Amino acid sequence: MSGPKKKTHLLSPKEKERAVQAMFTSIASYYDLNNTLLSFGLHHRWKRETIRTASLKEGNYFLDVGAGTADLSLLAANEIGEKGGVVAIDLNRPMLQIGREKLTRQGGHQTLCIQGNAELLPLPDLIFDAVVSGFCIRNVSDLHQTLKEMLRVLKPNGRIVLLEFSRPTSAILRWLYDFYSFTLLPKIGAWVSQDQTGVYQYLPDSIRRFPDQETLVKKMEAIGFKEVSYRNLSGGIIALHTGKKQK
Ligand SMILES: C[S@@+](CC[C@H](N)C(=O)[O-])C[C@H]1O[C@@H](n2cnc3c(N)ncnc32)[C@H](O)[C@@H]1O
Repeated sequence: MSGPKKKTHLLSPKEKERAVQAMFTSIASYYDLNNTLLSFGLHHRWKRETIRTASLKEGNYFLDVGAGTADLSLLAANEIGEKGGVVAIDLNRPMLQIGREKLTRQGGHQTLCIQGNAELLPLPDLIFDAVVSGFCIRNVSDLHQTLKEMLRVLKPNGRIVLLEFSRPTSAILRWLYDFYSFTLLPKIGAWVSQDQTGVYQYLPDSIRRFPDQETLVKKMEAIGFKEVSYRNLSGGIIALHTGKKQK
């Protein structure tokens, strides 16, 4: 497997965007399969928990940032019903195309798929009851700007839920997880998807550099989110951060 020529955190924002695009383009058709294999199927549970935490009601408007193959959008569409609206936004066309087909096949008709950047959402202010993002914000060039954009498009009292890799709470689990994610995961991921770009090496690197639970809380509060808290899933391998926009 040949890795990226330069570590992504050393790239300029434009270069990073291009590298992330290339990675997701190369794995798009294997993304769902790899997700299920590499997480031992747990990602379905994490996503159901994310949508449950968003407390959606019939008729709500919902935004999925970095929607990819649209699992979260589909779950949300089922909760919201025909009277509501779902917007799935992603930088990468091949990922979104798979998501669009899934939504058409599985009943997420009220979902609008838009190719766009989380750092500059092509959407008006104050329109969503809930904004959710699953495994995306680790990949953006400017986390601060991305969170600001999410706050901007929320209605007053609207909810944000962020599903992301985080820091396992116990030392033993951290050791096991590091061994799995730095040693086994890149090999299995690259083999299944025949990936040459090094995306499955990028994955553990990007997780390690991403803010831990408490640091992300502080970043969300600094942007202006209220009632910010988090809950660990799978021993902190995953964290669900939540917050609200001021009434
Ligand atoms: C790991 S996938 C997650 C997909 C999906 N949310 C899920 O949970 O399975 C990350 C997605 O974020 C998208 N992404 C990365 N940077 C982005 C950005 N700046 N704006 C919008 N989408 C972005 C990628 O194209 C990719 O589809």
